[in-house]
Amino acid sequence: MSIAWNIHTYTQLPSTQDYVRELAEEGLPEGTVVQAMTQTKGRGRQGRNWISPLGNLYMSFILQPNCTPAVAGQISFVAALAVSAAIDEVIAPGYKKTLKWPNDILIDGKKCAGILIESILDKKNQLRALAVGIGVNILSTPEHAIGLQQVGKGDQIPIHPFRDLLLSHISAYYNHWKDKGFSDIRNHWLAQAHGRDGPVRVTLSDGVFEGIFKDLDKDGALVVTLPDGTERRVNAGDVFFDI
Ligand code: BTN
Repeated sequence: MSIAWNIHTYTQLPSTQDYVRELAEEGLPEGTVVQAMTQTKGRGRQGRNWISPLGNLYMSFILQPNCTPAVAGQISFVAALAVSAAIDEVIAPGYKKTLKWPNDILIDGKKCAGILIESILDKKNQLRALAVGIGVNILSTPEHAIGLQQVGKGDQIPIHPFRDLLLSHISAYYNHWKDKGFSDIRNHWLAQAHGRDGPVRVTLSDGVFEGIFKDLDKDGALVVTLPDGTERRVNAGDVFFDI
């Protein structure tokens, strides 16, 4: 069944992610969406800021996948595929869209969208909800990034219809994941993966290593082959391709 989205739109918020987390803690259900036209304290992965001027999509929503926190990590690939599918509907031919592990969406190698997924646990450390935050550059483009309007078919890309398009793809991929598991999601993601079979540098909290990006394992970890032929799996960290 499609998710019944209940969308709350604000002119400005500190962060849709922080607000949707509060709503999840208060018990609001799956499908609750918070959107802001600008954010004053937008957050990215790994504690970075997400600069959020007018003209782009900033939204966060609640999912309740009823699984362990470890399995819920797969949702980041579900969300990346949904963003990718929505972009496919507005992008002009000739641009190359790729998915950079774990969940950035690139167009011609430049970041167009980012996804931040956070778990909300109950007192027994069971997953109560996921807060899924998505930022998509449409009109306003940070340095070194790209916006959809630059690569669109020439028409305006209005924010709210793009949001609705994206939510419909989230519903479809989420239902597929719930019904069929991670295997198809993994394969679809790999088919669009950025830098597969190419060199990669991984920065972890305890050091840096380089190797070849070979695969995504059955849990969503990046599989890197090291120069000595051994494999290393990466669950978190910053990954740099094109080194
Ligand atoms: C990334 O680092 O790539 C993830 C960026 C996620 C940004 C979105 S914008 C909507 C939501 N609210 C936030 O504060 N962050 C996420």
